[in-house]
Amino acid sequence: MDVRFGYELASSVVHSVGAALGARVTGYRRWPNQRLLLDEPLALAESRTDRLRRIYDKAAEQIWDGPQVFRDAVAKHGGIQLSQQKRHALAHVIGMLTWGELAAWTVSADLAEQLEAPDARMAASSQVFDEARHFYVLRDYLALLHVPVPPIDPYFAIAARTLLSTRDLTLKLFAMQILAEGTAQAMFGYLARADVEPVLSELLPLIERDEARHVGLGILHLPELLQHKSPRELARLSRRIHTIGDLLAATQMRYIPHYHALGLDARELMRRADALLSSLSRKLGTVPGTGRPYFRVDDPADDDYDQKLDFVLPKPGAASPPLSRVLFSLVDLGARALPS
Ligand SMILES: [Fe+2]
Ligand SMILES: [Fe+2]
Repeated sequence: MDVRFGYELASSVVHSVGAALGARVTGYRRWPNQRLLLDEPLALAESRTDRLRRIYDKAAEQIWDGPQVFRDAVAKHGGIQLSQQKRHALAHVIGMLTWGELAAWTVSADLAEQLEAPDARMAASSQVFDEARHFYVLRDYLALLHVPVPPIDPYFAIAARTLLSTRDLTLKLFAMQILAEGTAQAMFGYLARADVEPVLSELLPLIERDEARHVGLGILHLPELLQHKSPRELARLSRRIHTIGDLLAATQMRYIPHYHALGLDARELMRRADALLSSLSRKLGTVPGTGRPYFRVDDPADDDYDQKLDFVLPKPGAASPPLSRVLFSLVDLGARALPS
């Protein structure tokens, strides 16, 4: 008995020491951060913290039953009544948004796991539920279109994979919550109001409302993360955000024919997305020492905005400037050449 007890004790000690040594080399070796408990009572006084906390509460208040809303909308409108041509075009647009939801789901789960600040982490946790719901609802909608699912756009795939694979949480938060979520929010709002298809119009306002909260997490928490970075790190961050922004812009250029096929005003869609992103950019300020915003966006309030828009998207009936045609050819060439 004593020998057996001695053996088990020694075995426990050896395994415990082994676990202790193992825990020192994992990503959680410094867990938990003591400051979380010590700083929290002070942080309660900060309005930013309060507002971040409200994102979680709001998400709980505004939660909606995705499958139920979807079923009710389909029953109410007798399914999707669209021509084959429009179904194909819509499958491209909804397909991109669905892949975006899947990426946002994974990124928000990363943020929920890794952000230090408890209130930001709670907001990200509630976002995980939202994105899961968005993914499933849009996936069901896509299936109901009864057309083949188009392959993912190469530019969009590269942007999403960059975001998913980076370990830089600030880049994740900036590019996903501001650039991608901001663009998605503008698109959901525009598509809902443009009445492309009645079932979709029932779903999109609910998704749009959720996306606004996700943008809120980025706007409220980014200043905190940015203030701990050196000017050099911020300049590098800005370059990486620019790259993701350019990839998303190239994606949008490739979707223009699909917007036209759906009878949508692509200029108006772009104007709305630019207006939203410009307002977010102003809130986040400029890269220290450069005076430049963190990402490239044209503000519709600028006098030369229409001129810039004419370059990418000429008014109906107007000819494309030669340089614009070169740009589109390059974007198409890149899409064929890039591995996806
Ligand atoms: Fe979403
Ligand atoms: Fe989102």
